[in-house]
Amino acid sequence: MIILGGSASGLLADKVAKELGYEPGRLEIKKFPDGEKYLRVVSEVRGEDVVVVQSLYRNPDEYLFELMLLTDTLRDLGARSITGVAPYLAYARQDARFNPGEAVSSVSLARFFEAAGMTSFFTVDTHLHRLEEVSKVFKIPARNLSAMPLLGKYALENLHPKNPVVIGPDEEAEPWAASVAKELDAEHTVFHKKRVTSSKVEIDTGHIELKGRDAVFADDIISTGGTIAEAAKACKKKGARRIFALCTHPVLAEGALKRIRAAGVSKVIGTDSIPSPISKVSVAPVIAKAVRA
Ligand code: R5P
Repeated sequence: MIILGGSASGLLADKVAKELGYEPGRLEIKKFPDGEKYLRVVSEVRGEDVVVVQSLYRNPDEYLFELMLLTDTLRDLGARSITGVAPYLAYARQDARFNPGEAVSSVSLARFFEAAGMTSFFTVDTHLHRLEEVSKVFKIPARNLSAMPLLGKYALENLHPKNPVVIGPDEEAEPWAASVAKELDAEHTVFHKKRVTSSKVEIDTGHIELKGRDAVFADDIISTGGTIAEAAKACKKKGARRIFALCTHPVLAEGALKRIRAAGVSKVIGTDSIPSPISKVSVAPVIAKAVRA
């Protein structure tokens, strides 16, 4: 098996290879002055099972094209199978046509990957609001893996929460909160979130008792930090002791961490699906386990 990392995820691919006990495969990628990419697969891939890791964050269009170019090249070079791994799956949120003529980008993306020659696909904690499962979007075998058990384990071993309650900041985060709560052997709940503008949300905490307890948020993405910040303020009002936030994908728009900390969150932890200052947990073991299976 050959594990290759695109320019978005070279380090992560190396960690996945290490988990699986392989040397990382070799790629050469350069950018031409006009912005185009030069790509060369240095490892011999003919007849091999190849895994390509490329998280589609920050410059999704660039990384996406590179992933498709790489996949098509691997097929051309005679790879036996090509497993695409995009831990952060850009374009996943537009999964329906809300207005006539709109692109349903998550479905288009699946078609692009398949057309390029991908034979199976993994992502991590992708939020498919209406389509629910990645297997409904892809025709090739596709799975949505989860980093929540590892984030929960990290919280248990490093944050030592006292009488914790794990909170999904909105209803859709319930499975993630449940998964972290299982690791912490704790109660979990969800808040109800109303998005007022793209950066402003209102939070209803429901009836959960928080006085003197540690609150641990679990969510897929922290982007502007607005959701966690508002939810944290609501926890403080209810007398929560310490507040922690766990997320799989630290998108972290400008000022997000400052905003969250100002709202009273003492630790924010994310994974390396997107490299960031809070990426303390690696998704490599989750990917390696899925690839091995
Ligand atoms: C929304 O449904 C997601 O699960 C996250 O809660 C959201 O993307 C977080 O965004 P922000 O940090 O900008 O509030």
